[in-house]
Amino acid sequence: MKSHTMPVLDFIRHLLSAVANAALYSMGHPQVERLSALAYTNLMSVLQARSEFTLMIVENELVIDGQAQELTLFLRRFTQIFTANSIGTMTIVPGVTKAELDALIRGIALQQESGQRVIDSSEHLRLGRVEVRLSSMDAGTSSSGTKPARVSLPDMPHEEMSRFMEMYETAKQQHKLKVNGIFDIVSGFIDVFRQEARPLLAMAALRDTDEYTFTHSTNVCVLNLAQAMALGIEGQLLNDIGVAAMLHDIGKLYIPEEILTKKGKLTDEEFDIMKQHPVKGARHLLDTPGVPRLAAIAAYEHHLKYNLRGYPRVADSWQQNLCSHMTAISDFFDALRTRRSYREPVELKEIATMMFGMMGTDLHPGLTKNFLRIIGRLMKTNPSAA
Ligand SMILES: [Fe+2]
Ligand SMILES: [Fe+2]
Repeated sequence: MKSHTMPVLDFIRHLLSAVANAALYSMGHPQVERLSALAYTNLMSVLQARSEFTLMIVENELVIDGQAQELTLFLRRFTQIFTANSIGTMTIVPGVTKAELDALIRGIALQQESGQRVIDSSEHLRLGRVEVRLSSMDAGTSSSGTKPARVSLPDMPHEEMSRFMEMYETAKQQHKLKVNGIFDIVSGFIDVFRQEARPLLAMAALRDTDEYTFTHSTNVCVLNLAQAMALGIEGQLLNDIGVAAMLHDIGKLYIPEEILTKKGKLTDEEFDIMKQHPVKGARHLLDTPGVPRLAAIAAYEHHLKYNLRGYPRVADSWQQNLCSHMTAISDFFDALRTRRSYREPVELKEIATMMFGMMGTDLHPGLTKNFLRIIGRLMKTNPSAA
């Protein structure tokens, strides 16, 4: 466990002790006040080093700063409380007041007592609910009669894509990236998702031709955003996950064209060259100012596999970032959906079966389940995509 997570763990420990005492006595009890003051102090030191702090719960795993935590007794307790409330993420930003923290403590204590869901987000303490995100994908089919405001969907991805293609070409020629353009594209996608998720997802699932890396990158981006939003992830982290997806294969700029576009199987020697793209990409991104660190991490880790038996070689103790696991899932899916000169795109059902079999070896089990749920919904609402 990394040392910078220590104040986070202290925060959670004091938060839970305050909750336990609030349930036992009452909110105003000196013991509760002492513990909530301690939790608040811990929280302040957590926020000192960063612009926001996000905790995530993914299939009963607690993820802090992208790293799954070993579940000690109190972390398991914490995870259970959030799961019981369908809370997938908690993001705290600077400016959070002690009153906001007290409201959270009171909410959890009350919930445990009454069984009601009473924990709410506040201005600086935002809770992402898992169900809300999943059900929002059905918004377009609701019979409520009020039509959601929609942007012109057919134009949007096309426009964004041509912009990305332009940037990609420039980057290729000059080995330089225009980072701001990538941010715009990702926030554009997120906006479209907010209005209506299905057309974008269908687009990624219906991929038809084997095109340039930019099409692959935008697809992986869309799929990563779908995964992250289904988990309740929002804000800066959501943007960073999208940007990371967009840039995960940027290292391919350094791989000779004839290897990239070769029809048929690569020789061992060619494959060795191809395997350098994660390291080259990560280095490129670390050298590019303004790129989120998460993008360099995902570029480096996206072929590692869940069991670390992929490439590049890393120590057995390596802790993979959650975003890299997501990217690996989206990447695998998109690769199989692509029509190759030597095969047709693989059917959704067949991909789902394959992915199911790869859980725990190649792919992160909890995140794969999350992904398959999204694809399952897509197949239901858009049978033509299957
Ligand atoms: Fe790759
Ligand atoms: Fe890729």
